[in-house]
Amino acid sequence: MRKNIVAGNWKMNNDLAETQELISHLKLQMVKEPMAEVYVAPSYVNLYNSFQSLKGTLIKVAAQNMHYAENGAFTGEVSAKMLKSIGVNTVILGHSERRALFNETDELLTKKVDAAIENDMEIIFCFGEELKDRKTEKHFEIVESQLENALFHVDKTSWQNIILAYEPVWAIGTGETASPEQAQEIHQFVRELVSKKFGKEIAQNVSILYGGSVKPNNAAEIFAKEDVDGGLIGGASLNAIDFLTIVNSFE
Ligand code: PGA
Repeated sequence: MRKNIVAGNWKMNNDLAETQELISHLKLQMVKEPMAEVYVAPSYVNLYNSFQSLKGTLIKVAAQNMHYAENGAFTGEVSAKMLKSIGVNTVILGHSERRALFNETDELLTKKVDAAIENDMEIIFCFGEELKDRKTEKHFEIVESQLENALFHVDKTSWQNIILAYEPVWAIGTGETASPEQAQEIHQFVRELVSKKFGKEIAQNVSILYGGSVKPNNAAEIFAKEDVDGGLIGGASLNAIDFLTIVNSFE
């Protein structure tokens, strides 16, 4: 059975003191067993500290990005090996902000995916169309090509470490959410793509998260859809109560 997962992407928010404060609020507020597996993705400088503070809790720590090389002359970059050495085993790859603002192409993402797999890391792989693609009804095509070009070259065994996150670019940070039906439609399509290529069992077991303006007041109806297995949360993950409300928005 696939898992429900809710991951908070803190993006470039929170300095050390703010990160510690948010983590202590999360620990204090998490009074009952969460209804999903919970991840948070702090900024790089706060990763080690966050990992240490969250040790022994049910909250896992993910990185927001990484380089594909193991080490070398890549000023400003961080490798899988470095992440693993501080206990971080999960990485978000292909976020639309990285694609759009930092020129991450499918080709580059392929290398990052391979590096994560080689290092036995779990991947939260993001994909999603822009507004112009949806307006011209190219969303299915775009989503399929993003998956085909950067992820679907992996072998079957890698799927135990892959989480998918559909994030329509037009819904990220905009306050505009895909309707539960729009999310379900793409999630079902993606599950079918995985099924065709890797078989039914893998498709049934992979968690597909929705991301894009998920808030406490809309999470439940989105997560209620059959093929939506949780969310990747930006803005609302910066508030412990909002985030935990979302975490517990499953039926
Ligand atoms: P948002 O961001 O929830 O602020 O729209 C989602 C994301 O970028 O993962």
